[in-house]
Amino acid sequence: MLPSALFALLAPIAIAVAAPICQPRASGECNGHAELCDRSYGNITFFGAHDSFAFSEDPFALARDQELDITSQLNLGVRLLQAQSHMNGGVLHFCHTSCALFDGGTVLSYLQTVNTWLQANPNEVLTLLFTNPEGVSLPNVWAPAFQQSGIADLAFVPSAVPTKQSDWPTLGELIDAGKRVVVFLDAGADIDRSVPYILPEFEMIWETPFSVTDASFPCSVDRIAGPLGTTDHMYMINHSLNKNILDTGIIVSDPLDAKTTNGVTSILANAAGCEPLSAGRSPNFVLLDFVNIGQGLQAVNQLNGFS
Ligand SMILES: *[C@@H]1O[C@H](CO)[C@@H](O)[C@H](O)[C@H]1NC(C)=O
Ligand SMILES: *[C@@H]1O[C@H](CO)[C@@H](O)[C@H](O)[C@H]1NC(C)=O
Repeated sequence: MLPSALFALLAPIAIAVAAPICQPRASGECNGHAELCDRSYGNITFFGAHDSFAFSEDPFALARDQELDITSQLNLGVRLLQAQSHMNGGVLHFCHTSCALFDGGTVLSYLQTVNTWLQANPNEVLTLLFTNPEGVSLPNVWAPAFQQSGIADLAFVPSAVPTKQSDWPTLGELIDAGKRVVVFLDAGADIDRSVPYILPEFEMIWETPFSVTDASFPCSVDRIAGPLGTTDHMYMINHSLNKNILDTGIIVSDPLDAKTTNGVTSILANAAGCEPLSAGRSPNFVLLDFVNIGQGLQAVNQLNGFS
């Protein structure tokens, strides 16, 4: 047999064996940009949706913070979904302040929706940032929802917790490893590390103050935990302007303000105000209400160096 014929015979076998390791990405882009494939997850600004589950087109649904459903938020470019959990009838739901006020359904059905989108969009890295105000069990309640939805299989487990801002893998590495979902919980994961992919938020991310009612968004480090120093954390600007609705003590933001608040000028000014606290770095996450109003994605693209 001629050597070239032998090669022709063997080459497909070699490719088949190598395929799982060095399969090229379906497209040369990561989160929509080729440049982001080689950039560390810790050095990227992501567009975030605050109270992502609290969507309604009804202007009289006062406790809503979004107009678009989850899939539409993701299609718009949102790459961090934030949501607040509460137990409702023995099942974990996403609710705004209380389930009587706004019930976004079960965490499982939310995660199934997200998983469907992730399967259809294989070159995307997504962050999930959930709150756990009732201290619900990670292994008994949170983990089963992640497993049943399929998202547990895609969830990234860092080699060390906490991981410094500068030590995260690139988006390309996360995508190639099939671990393109990063999950943070505000409370519980700091004390219970039994679910390795549910990460303690404040050990790795600091936040600006919330429930801000000052449109100039003065920056300060509001919530953070050690042992890493401030500049070794990633950080999130919680860029929503709040109103106390009908003096009920229920804090929501007004879609009428969103055009200005979610404008490039307001977002970039907030980011610039935070840079002295972060060794000159841009925010990692820009969290907005009403993501479809204003210019959130444009501001995030500018912070990433794309015009
Ligand atoms: C990424 O690094 C560049 C260059 O150091 C910096 O200008 C930018 O602010 C960083 N962005 C983030 C989110 O860390
Ligand atoms: C952001 O602000 C809202 C209130 O405006 C608050 O409920 C929330 O905990 C803050 N942080 C995150 C991650 O959403």
